[in-house]
Amino acid sequence: MYVVTGGAGFIGSQLVRDLLAAGERVVVLDDFSSGKRANLQGLEGELEVIETNVVDGLWAGLGKLDPRWGTPTAIVHLAAQVSVVASLQNPLEDARRNHGATLQVLEYARQHRGVRVVLASSAATYGDVDEVPVRESSARWPLSPYGFHKFSSELALRAYATTHGVPTAALRFFNVYGPRQDPSSPYSGVISIFMKRALAGEGITIYGDGEQTRDFVFVSDVSAALRKAASQDFAGDVFNVGTGAETSINVLAQTVVRLAGSASSIGHAPARSGEVQRSCAELSHARDALKYEPSVGLDEGLAATLAWYAS
Ligand SMILES: NC(=O)c1ccc[n+]([C@@H]2O[C@H](COP(=O)([O-])OP(=O)(O)OC[C@H]3O[C@@H](n4cnc5c(N)ncnc54)[C@H](O)[C@@H]3O)[C@@H](O)[C@H]2O)c1
Repeated sequence: MYVVTGGAGFIGSQLVRDLLAAGERVVVLDDFSSGKRANLQGLEGELEVIETNVVDGLWAGLGKLDPRWGTPTAIVHLAAQVSVVASLQNPLEDARRNHGATLQVLEYARQHRGVRVVLASSAATYGDVDEVPVRESSARWPLSPYGFHKFSSELALRAYATTHGVPTAALRFFNVYGPRQDPSSPYSGVISIFMKRALAGEGITIYGDGEQTRDFVFVSDVSAALRKAASQDFAGDVFNVGTGAETSINVLAQTVVRLAGSASSIGHAPARSGEVQRSCAELSHARDALKYEPSVGLDEGLAATLAWYAS
């Protein structure tokens, strides 16, 4: 049995689908703060959904489980306050919902021997590093509470593995995209914003010269990495999860417009301060230890995402 916190979110609902398709029993813990019931549509009856805030309701939530199911094989902890902007506005709340929630999961695993913990961490832990592609061992100077609470959560995973023998792994996601990413959220990322505008035939604005790069990884590849991490014992290992390819924002915008068959114009506005110029994952640790291999190319992933937005 797998517990997925944040299972009603964008990445979580993909993971839940993939676990169910593999014949696994799945329990979702979610407070629906940014996730949606619609993301789990069609899965009713196949999984258990417990509505709870994992910061203070994780134990009560998992206490409701049928004891015949035994303890979870793994808790995949995706529930988080996901907005960098909100973390800057309210760092203490971010500490509670990010670092604090991770400690709840770790404490549960410490007191239920054998439960693995897999954390959704982020490339935001690196801050503005000038190493491309960036390795897990690179300097980490996160720029926001969101980034440093993901980093402190990683440190907690490592300490629980070393001190208490809890099997743990943290996956640093780069820019994840795909179906069910909320296009109405102001924080949902450049791909969903470009797609929404391209499908509406509205102009697309790129901040700066558009030569800034990102590593865009399709959500099913992220789900595959999570499932691999949840099925092995690691001791606080940290893995980059991206594609290893850099895509400029100019190329991204042109590709979205082409695939959408859109007449949207692409324009530029002054660069935003504090934006990371280049970002790309170095994948050798994930390839060697996790056996992770990204399989969805940008055109294929964008086409699948566009089809979902257009439906
Ligand atoms: N999307 C990306 O590109 C990206 C990149 C790096 C890291 N991540 C991380 O991946 C994870 C999933 O992100 P996502 O993009 O699917 O976001 P999302 O907002 O779609 O999913 C987060 C889910 O967690 C739930 N949640 C939040 N706080 C909760 C709490 N205290 N208790 C219970 N449920 C709670 C939300 O309702 C939502 O369903 C997050 O930890 C995020 O920080 C995402």
